[in-house]
Amino acid sequence: MSTCAWEGFFSSAQRKRWQEAIPRRYSCRSFSAPADMAQRSALDYTAARAGLPGVRLVLADCDFNRLFFPIPFGPRIEYASQYAAVILNPDVEHAALHAGIAGQALVLEMTSLGLGSCWVSGNFRRSAVDIPLTGREKVAAVIPYGHPAPNIPTDRKRKPLKDLCLDDPADWPNWAFQAAEAARQAPSAINTQPWRFSFSGNTLRLSGRGFGGLNYGIAVLHMVCAMGDAPHRWRWSADGKGLLINLKDEHDII
Ligand SMILES: Cc1cc2nc3c(=O)[nH]c(=O)nc-3n(C[C@H](O)[C@H](O)[C@H](O)COP(=O)(O)O)c2cc1C
Repeated sequence: MSTCAWEGFFSSAQRKRWQEAIPRRYSCRSFSAPADMAQRSALDYTAARAGLPGVRLVLADCDFNRLFFPIPFGPRIEYASQYAAVILNPDVEHAALHAGIAGQALVLEMTSLGLGSCWVSGNFRRSAVDIPLTGREKVAAVIPYGHPAPNIPTDRKRKPLKDLCLDDPADWPNWAFQAAEAARQAPSAINTQPWRFSFSGNTLRLSGRGFGGLNYGIAVLHMVCAMGDAPHRWRWSADGKGLLINLKDEHDII
């Protein structure tokens, strides 16, 4: 059984800061100004620190007209002059999941710095990413960021938690409920919210259609933040199609 590389990877202070940022994050697609030098330095540090196995986060400047293209009925991405590239090496096990975790750590750091951002895996031109790649590396997504333009819609449309759960979350211990609730607030491509949760014995399971991609990594980061300093353990399920979380000490369950 492979280990979970993100266990113990982020500091308590980082997890707390990102947990506070979760309710304030939304997809920002229009920007009024770039991040300043101090913000950019903080992001450089996070990008370097958050690189889980098989993932590189690289900050770069961009011409938004060249990097992004409009899609019918979709909102345009405009006036971004900075972005982060989420680069993964598909030869490394769980690289896509790790990319979701690392990229969302950077997104929540952006939120905590007062910056807007948006995951973009669809409407960007890979040929416009001016970052040298090595071997089989590919750009999984880009994240434009900067100061949000005024009057950006910040409302969040999410399914109720019970629609994401295979059993009744009202029967779960509080830690499991809080972890699933934090994942529910996560962004996902086309807002699909593919995550499914179930609880059995003392174990919370995260699974869902196409398990293992960016959307799941993003949810994992939210769950890591919600677990705070409670000693807990992550494991892959035997079928490899889900992740299992339980508290290390049964007596800690509240
Ligand atoms: C992996 C991923 C890929 C995404 N790709 C795009 C994209 O290509 N274009 C876009 O406009 N938004 C994209 N989004 C943003 C989602 O549409 C957005 O997160 C979702 O609608 C929920 O809205 P919220 O982030 O404001 O909560 C993406 C989000 C994720 C997590």
